Amino acid sequence: MVKKKISIMDSVKEASKAAISGVDEKDIEHWVEIYLMGKAYDVPADLTIMQAIEYAGYRLIRSSGCRAGFCGACATVFRRKGEYKLETAMACQTRVEDGMYLMQIPFSPAEKPLYDIKKEKFESSALLKYFPEISRCVSCNTCTKSCPQDLQVMDYVQDALKGDFKAVSEESFECIQCGLCALRCPAEIVQYHMAQFARRMYGRYGTPREENVEKRVEEIEKGEFDKEFDRIMKLDLNEFKNVYTEQQNNREIY
Ligand code: FES
Repeated sequence: MVKKKISIMDSVKEASKAAISGVDEKDIEHWVEIYLMGKAYDVPADLTIMQAIEYAGYRLIRSSGCRAGFCGACATVFRRKGEYKLETAMACQTRVEDGMYLMQIPFSPAEKPLYDIKKEKFESSALLKYFPEISRCVSCNTCTKSCPQDLQVMDYVQDALKGDFKAVSEESFECIQCGLCALRCPAEIVQYHMAQFARRMYGRYGTPREENVEKRVEEIEKGEFDKEFDRIMKLDLNEFKNVYTEQQNNREIY
């Protein structure tokens, strides 16, 4: 029997129906019309933007990662029908709405200075040395408004101006590096790279060394876990899953 050849787009569309698996399309009552890169598509309401893009037949090679709001890969710009304002969101965390015009941003082409954290001095001037543009902040708060994590981005830019590594690190701790803050900044500040630098500096110089980690690294280097690593590497997928589940169940949470 000759197997029917289906196009890659059809197979992606088919695979993406997992988002509504177990549901017959004719039983779906609520549909919305969205526009992807200018083209109209009908998709089931309640899908996330990411699921809707895939449902429409697009295969996301870039612009997708964890699918759970952690990795920052799925930055989206959209406009609602009849509104002037451009909004930003994470595609895996935001539901489609009727009349949304959507555009994925696979990567934020922001400037990033190169530094070697081991050669830096833990001095507040380091922030201005690598990110002089923070002094241009006009306090417009656009960065805070565009943050899908609801972080107070403008506040930690102000902390950076004061050279406060601790405050920048703590306030930006949940940054997922999506880059949406920098895309909208009229002062051309790259807030997410600046805050990452602050966290790296604070982690290396501002916090005490963790003795347990050092001890464990020493044990690994001495080969104390080699036998166990070898055993795990030889497991098949199912055995590996069982070991992982068992370990998670026995884990002590401190
Ligand atoms: S895919 Fe990772 S945050 Fe959306």
